[in-house]
Amino acid sequence: MTVTVRVPAKVNVQLAVGAARPDGFHDLANVFLAVGLYDEITATPAEELRITCEGPDADQVPLDHSNLAARAAIELARRYGRTPDVHIHIAKDIPVAGGMAGGSADGAGALLACDALWGTGATREELLEICAELGSDVPFSLVGGAALGTGRGEKLTALEVGGTFYWVFALADGGLSTPAVFREFDRLTEGTEVPEPVASPELLDALAKGDVHALAASLVNDLQPAALSLRPSLADTLDAGTAAGALGALVSGSGPTTAFLCESAEAAEKVAEALRASGTCRAARVAQGAAVGATVV
Ligand code: C5P
Repeated sequence: MTVTVRVPAKVNVQLAVGAARPDGFHDLANVFLAVGLYDEITATPAEELRITCEGPDADQVPLDHSNLAARAAIELARRYGRTPDVHIHIAKDIPVAGGMAGGSADGAGALLACDALWGTGATREELLEICAELGSDVPFSLVGGAALGTGRGEKLTALEVGGTFYWVFALADGGLSTPAVFREFDRLTEGTEVPEPVASPELLDALAKGDVHALAASLVNDLQPAALSLRPSLADTLDAGTAAGALGALVSGSGPTTAFLCESAEAAEKVAEALRASGTCRAARVAQGAAVGATVV
């Protein structure tokens, strides 16, 4: 028997970041939107735990037990008193270390795939609890759609989305380390009063109404200055997409992927073409949101 799960990438349409907490994490008001770029995770019974990966960035994916997919299988097996004797194969299409929750997608996907394969009978709540242990963005990869993440991003409230949003994602050469971007945020905000992170009412309203112009006007990422500080060339990518007619542009999560919100599917194709021709990115991908969360296929 084999189980395959498809899991979407995410973009943060708002990422409000508070001051560093005593545990080193930051409180967030994190408005996640799942978008239609997917990893597929397949679980097959095996002699022992093994991870394999295919895709353009496969050489950058760790295949040891640090992979969130391996950690998900180990934790689920531990809770149900069995051995994680499973081969997990990742067909990777989400950029690696790109700020689109690709690693988190693999964690959530492996968890759901192993759960189905082993027939554990775990509740949704328990799966979400394991996801939160694996990482701040992993619960959202399981649920998809749109959600507000508070705490370190793992406490989710589902959000209404009143229409389809058309995006272009410009992939950069090489990844950015999320801890390094948060450290740069701390450095840049040192000595200043960092306000409590709160979700923008205008942004939540724009999402609920499916109003692309209002959403474009309220996109905001508090990690963007830190990502630009570590990777100044991203400013050129943002400019190129905006010049090509994107309604809004921002760094996705901790970057270095940049995200462009467009008026329509046609406008998104045009912006993607212009970004490819600009020479300011490695590739440009068109995707729609909101996408459904991790799903057995
Ligand atoms: O939760 P996750 O393991 O994905 O977080 C990776 C790193 O990102 C953390 O070790 C921390 O440095 C940073 N982070 C943070 N505040 C958050 C989420 C992540 O500082 N809310």
